[in-house]
Amino acid sequence: MTSVPIRDGTLHVEVRGRGPVLLLVHGFPLDHTMWRGQLDALATSHTVVAPDLRGFGRSSAVTGLLTMGQIADDLAELLDALDMPDPVWFCGLSMGGYVAWQFWLRHTAKLAGLILCDTRAAADSVEVARGRQLMAQQVVVTGSSLLLPAMSDRLFAPQTKADQPDLVATVEQVILKTSPESIAAAQRGMAERPDMQSQLPQVNVPTLALCGQYDVITPPAEMQDMVARMSRARYVEIADAGHMAPFEQPDAVNQCLREFLAQG
Ligand code: MLT
Repeated sequence: MTSVPIRDGTLHVEVRGRGPVLLLVHGFPLDHTMWRGQLDALATSHTVVAPDLRGFGRSSAVTGLLTMGQIADDLAELLDALDMPDPVWFCGLSMGGYVAWQFWLRHTAKLAGLILCDTRAAADSVEVARGRQLMAQQVVVTGSSLLLPAMSDRLFAPQTKADQPDLVATVEQVILKTSPESIAAAQRGMAERPDMQSQLPQVNVPTLALCGQYDVITPPAEMQDMVARMSRARYVEIADAGHMAPFEQPDAVNQCLREFLAQG
């Protein structure tokens, strides 16, 4: 793991392999270890870059507000600091997908294509945004364990919970290690993220959208609808997976990624 200084902090990043750059951007409130099934497997053909986003894992702490645009700018700076050649394949899960839209808007020239895992283009409803603000207030009082009951229940497919309890336990440990202030800052940032639905027809890079069959956070129907509004996007459903499809079913996800990236 490498530690890379950026404008006002440090990002920790795992870099493996050689070839075109594949940037793996984790979801909330996790870190780069959610890509453990992809890191080595895809490093045979690509330079795999898997950072801990600001506020998460071993990267610099954050307080107040962490917007999706700030994270996209951090990633562009990180790629430059690592001397990674443009353009890169941006693969983001859930919050990582919210960041992908901002990367597309702000750093278009750096982008070869998108891999959107278990994510959405829509902004939060007023009710969901209010829930995030409330959670941001509560988590700094009660601690990160506040998230555990809802997250462990909703992140995984029923079969994953039954057959791979170690995956659930691993993610719970990551959540518990994440600082409550970072959780609050990212929740505020997600609550104010822009709605990207009207811009979907303009997304003109090759795009692969993956969704776990049993994802209850960003359900298959919503992702299919998103893909239908994009001109160069393809949808693949991952059987027996929930919201954490790359973590739950790495072999199936890696096969899709390999096929997609080989055409790029
Ligand atoms: C994630 O997995 O990143 C979160 O579920 C995103 C969200 O809270 O909308």
